[in-house]
Amino acid sequence: MTPILTALLCLGLSVGLRTRVQAGTPPKPTLQAEPGSVIPWGSPVNITCQGTLGAEEYHLDKEGNTPPWKTQKPPNPGDKAMFSITRTTDNDAGRYRCYYRSPSGWSESSDPLELVVTGPYRKPSLSALPSPVVTSGGNVTLQCGSGQGFDRFILTKEGEHRLSWTLDSQQHIRGQSQALFPVGPVTPNLWWTFRCYGCYRNSTQVWSQPSDPLELLVPGVSGKPSLLAQQGPIVASGQNLTLRCRSDVGYDRFALSKEGGQDLPQSLVLQPQAGLSQADFSLDTVSTSHGGRYRCYGGHNLSSEWSAPSDPLDILVAGQLSDRPSLTVQPGTTVTSGEKVTLLCQSQTLKDTFLLSKEGAADPPLRLPSHHRAQQFQAEFSMSPVTSAHGGTYRCYSSLSTAPYLLSHPSEPLELRVSASHPLDYTVENLIRLGVAGLILVVLGVLLFQAQNCQTSIHQETGV
Ligand SMILES: *[C@@H]1O[C@H](CO)[C@@H](O)[C@H](O)[C@H]1NC(C)=O
Ligand SMILES: *[C@@H]1O[C@H](CO)[C@@H](O)[C@H](O)[C@H]1NC(C)=O
Ligand SMILES: *[C@@H]1O[C@H](CO)[C@@H](O)[C@H](O)[C@H]1NC(C)=O
Ligand SMILES: *[C@@H]1O[C@H](CO)[C@@H](O)[C@H](O)[C@H]1NC(C)=O
Ligand SMILES: *[C@@H]1O[C@H](CO)[C@@H](O)[C@H](O)[C@H]1NC(C)=O
Repeated sequence: MTPILTALLCLGLSVGLRTRVQAGTPPKPTLQAEPGSVIPWGSPVNITCQGTLGAEEYHLDKEGNTPPWKTQKPPNPGDKAMFSITRTTDNDAGRYRCYYRSPSGWSESSDPLELVVTGPYRKPSLSALPSPVVTSGGNVTLQCGSGQGFDRFILTKEGEHRLSWTLDSQQHIRGQSQALFPVGPVTPNLWWTFRCYGCYRNSTQVWSQPSDPLELLVPGVSGKPSLLAQQGPIVASGQNLTLRCRSDVGYDRFALSKEGGQDLPQSLVLQPQAGLSQADFSLDTVSTSHGGRYRCYGGHNLSSEWSAPSDPLDILVAGQLSDRPSLTVQPGTTVTSGEKVTLLCQSQTLKDTFLLSKEGAADPPLRLPSHHRAQQFQAEFSMSPVTSAHGGTYRCYSSLSTAPYLLSHPSEPLELRVSASHPLDYTVENLIRLGVAGLILVVLGVLLFQAQNCQTSIHQETGV
């Protein structure tokens, strides 16, 4: 190419560009997807390119494909074009741009639209570390993990303004990968509901199915509900466990949390009655994992705010240590109120704590540290002065400090009878006994006297 020709060409190009700008390029179109840009596999989506009135032809380009990917000529020159996909598949996922031709020339390209298709891979799991219960102003880490070797994870926050964050996955141990998303500071007046997805580096717009939703709970200050276990705080494995949360504040939903637990079961109350409401949480068949400290919270179904936590309830799972302690009583199983009673719980093997529970009592069991004495580990539970309220059936258990919610088998039951008699009753009773004895003596005396009289008169008669 001669230098003159090159110069002429450059001149021509720049003149051409200038004339296009001077004529006024048509406005930049906008590109939108309905119902959204994250579409479940198999669902329909409408992609709309919004231009200006009089546009004659619309082009839709998809990154990685030779342009134009699709074209549309509106029958009457119109201000927009709609590209419909009736069944979205992985092939539709990608980055799109659109532009159009108007009498004044071609428009520039719209901003890109990322169309994400979800569903071809199984869902990852989402959990909150250390707990989904976060104090107001606190921070939490959300862990998204999967065994499918995803290269990336995406965390989305549901709500008015859908937000999302993407992180490369951390580790690959036998296909296991995860990402840790720091979240916070958390405030009580917003919804904190999240889901996460996994994807591969080679096609970042194809995501897995969404994880189950995870709602963070920020305890507030409104009246705390109360929490109790229907069958008492000590349960045996295999038994059904139901925890009841109740309140007179009229909450219409309750949530149950377990210390160190990852999930946060919730229950809606359908008809709060006269301000009283309650919800039962069925925790299935008891296993060792059910042992722990529980709390519940009340809330209103259309609000993100929660109550103050209930008092903690410790659920203890019995029969988890091979040991069965023995329970004995001093001075005996029948005592008089006012006396001192000592229940002695003993074990042959090393134990850290002994617990004493009374059948039918809603209170938590008494707990004492173990002492080593006479080749036994033991604890003495004393009641002084004993009252009739202490009467009942007792059992004791042992536990180790490494697993404080797992107990031994129960001891044999011990029935304590407290005689309701009062020291004063004794004297009165004795007086009555004395009185009765006296009366009998008097009657006997009278009878003897009469018998003697009788005999005398007989003698007198025979003597006549
Ligand atoms: C796409 O547009 C068509 C025509 O307006 C409409 O019938 C259909 O419901 C739309 N689909 C979606 C997913 O919005
Ligand atoms: C939460 O994190 C922010 C920054 O990420 C920090 O400034 C703040 O002190 C943290 N709050 C708590 C309670 O740790
Ligand atoms: C992307 O990579 C994953 C695993 O590395 C593979 O299973 C998948 O088929 C790949 N997808 C594409 C579109 O290449
Ligand atoms: C536990 O509950 C289930 C269903 O509610 C019931 O079928 C089962 O018999 C219960 N088991 C025990 C041990 O009570
Ligand atoms: C919230 O609870 C009220 C009654 O307490 C009920 O009428 C309403 O349908 C509930 N809303 C939702 C979204 O569950």
